[in-house]
Amino acid sequence: MVGQAQKIFTKYLNNKPIFKNREALSTSFSPETIPHRETEVNTIAKILAPALKGGKPSNLFLYGRTGTGKTCVSRMVADELQTISNSNGHKLKTIYVNCKMKKTSDTEYRLMATLSKEFGKEVPFTGLPTDQIYNIFFESLDQSNQTLILILDEIDTLVQKSGDEILYNLTRVNQDLKNSSICIIGITNSLGFINSLDPRVKSSLGEEEMIFPPYNALQLQDILKNRAKTAFEDGIIEEGVVEKCAALAAQEHGDARRALDLLRVSAELAEREASEKVTIEHVDKAQDKIDLDRVIETVKAQPKQSQIVLWSILKFFEKHKREINTGDVMNVYNEVCKMQGTRPLTQRRVSDLIAELDLFGIINTKVISRGRYGRTRVITLSLSDGIMKRLKNFLQQRFL
Ligand SMILES: Nc1ncnc2c1ncn2[C@@H]1O[C@H](COP(=O)(O)OP(=O)(O)OP(=O)(O)O)[C@@H](O)[C@H]1O
Ligand SMILES: [Mg+2]
Repeated sequence: MVGQAQKIFTKYLNNKPIFKNREALSTSFSPETIPHRETEVNTIAKILAPALKGGKPSNLFLYGRTGTGKTCVSRMVADELQTISNSNGHKLKTIYVNCKMKKTSDTEYRLMATLSKEFGKEVPFTGLPTDQIYNIFFESLDQSNQTLILILDEIDTLVQKSGDEILYNLTRVNQDLKNSSICIIGITNSLGFINSLDPRVKSSLGEEEMIFPPYNALQLQDILKNRAKTAFEDGIIEEGVVEKCAALAAQEHGDARRALDLLRVSAELAEREASEKVTIEHVDKAQDKIDLDRVIETVKAQPKQSQIVLWSILKFFEKHKREINTGDVMNVYNEVCKMQGTRPLTQRRVSDLIAELDLFGIINTKVISRGRYGRTRVITLSLSDGIMKRLKNFLQQRFL
């Protein structure tokens, strides 16, 4: 056995490195150019330009599916605006906030405290009455005598938690500010979000609206090729790899994040195998790995009862290899509960959990009519064999 690991280490050391700059494929990396978003960059820049002369730009609402470049485009435009205004001696401030960030901006209070801090006012992160914290922020903003461009990314999570009052207050405040103004850029990938808002908020936040369309496969290829140049040495990526990552991500509603993840994971797998090149087979494996991670992540987040139901479904399927109905699940489920010493839920509750597992895309269900025997729900599994096996192992560790 001695020396076996050494062999791997030596091979690893002698191999040409796969990555030139690993960071270039990470989510935190800001690309230098953003291909296929020229129209969006130009339009946003035109909307924000009046801020350079002390004006108040229209509020702007950006939406589009996940991975369509909303965050990277708005951050880039805001950074360039800040740079230009600094070099011209104008006073202008851009603040980017991701409303999903726990502790700093996921509630009304925390967000107002974070914003006050940006203007040099330290406020405790709990405890003050809400109107007082609003006042602290508005006064410090007004005293600062400048235009504030406030980007509220993933704005739907904030509203879900705190209601839309905060947006009403923020968009209305310009009436009260004497020396400063605030322009809000709201971003979401929840397409129904803007329609769920109070009409007053909707009209002021959406003074300008822009939809980010999904990327097609060719556009994703360009995006990947650009990144690949920074991330890899020449010749490391085999022909067809970028095209395959782009095609797979285009099928998943044109998500650039997914395309970049595929390329990164493919390269990591190649590196782990001490391969000299990233090949199409690595992309296949990467696709499986990402899917598996996603399924396991989702299953982990489910309550124990739901996991037992899924485990029962997989057990039944493994044995009988056919469509499963709720009755079948109940038989196995009751047995598993007994083994576990867990009190079983009613068939109705189990049906709800089955419907939820369908919603998360882990199983598929359909209701079929059996003539005079009424209607019944049948379950089928569409996960690949590899994923199914790993999922079973994962649940087995929990329940056996
Ligand atoms: N046109 C592009 N050129 C280069 N990289 C891009 C482009 N569009 C997106 N990306 C990259 O893809 C990833 C996802 O983009 P981004 O975070 O901007 O998406 P998003 O629309 O904000 O998605 P979400 O709704 O999930 O937040 C990022 O790593 C980003 O740098
Ligand atoms: Mg985003």
